[in-house]
Amino acid sequence: MSDAPIGVFDSGVGGTSIWKEIHKLLPRERTIYLADSKNAPYGEKSQQQILELSIKNTELLLEMGCKLIVVACNTATTNAILYLRTHYGLPFIGIEPAIKPAALNSISKVVGVLATKGTLSSSLFHSTTENHANGIKLIEQEGTGLVPLVESGNIDSKETETLLRKYIDPMLDQGMDHLVLGCTHYPYLVPVLRKIMPEGVKIIDSGEAVARQVKAILEKNAMLNTATSHKGHRFYTNIDPEVLRNFVSGVAPDIRVEKLDF
Ligand code: SIN
Repeated sequence: MSDAPIGVFDSGVGGTSIWKEIHKLLPRERTIYLADSKNAPYGEKSQQQILELSIKNTELLLEMGCKLIVVACNTATTNAILYLRTHYGLPFIGIEPAIKPAALNSISKVVGVLATKGTLSSSLFHSTTENHANGIKLIEQEGTGLVPLVESGNIDSKETETLLRKYIDPMLDQGMDHLVLGCTHYPYLVPVLRKIMPEGVKIIDSGEAVARQVKAILEKNAMLNTATSHKGHRFYTNIDPEVLRNFVSGVAPDIRVEKLDF
């Protein structure tokens, strides 16, 4: 079992930002990554649709023999992880916006959260904010249109900058000093965000914390890979694999990126 791969799924390429942190912390682990780009963005879908897509991805990763699944998508986590944990007998790690560290460290007590409509409207998101954002002015901003820009690889462009300014400027005007990235696609926007925000505004994402959580759960369940021969990383996408390849090539040896109908 410890030699089995870790499964990771996302609505597309964004979850590779999480995969990179997992690989950095756990280089001996084999992984299988599903990019459901054909159905991106999840954030504009109904809760039922997000659940059905999450079940489809989970069952495929189970068929492929995964020992643990990382739901590397905030929208799928907030809308489906409770169901997945109840219905399947393996550990699931989800991605929740890192509101807590932002709230604890904010001096202005104004924290912005950029996330999808699907995440911001979920009950799991609301319970997290109620628990961790006491005494904080939390500005919730939907990032409509950002996921397709990342999916198309159109990141360092005027279009991306203009859309980000539209979302970020009103939060800056209200005194935001911490911006929480509540979507795994958004870490790829950090270079543009850094261009348009004052240096003092901190950007918080969940990648490293998720990787630490994966390690802790594998340790607890005696599932860490102790094998010496590495059998690599498989990445599957249901559209043209070139885009996904651009996000992961060169990050690790033994990476295979292929198209698969799922
Ligand atoms: C999306 O597919 O809309 C975004 C994925 C995420 O919330 O991380």
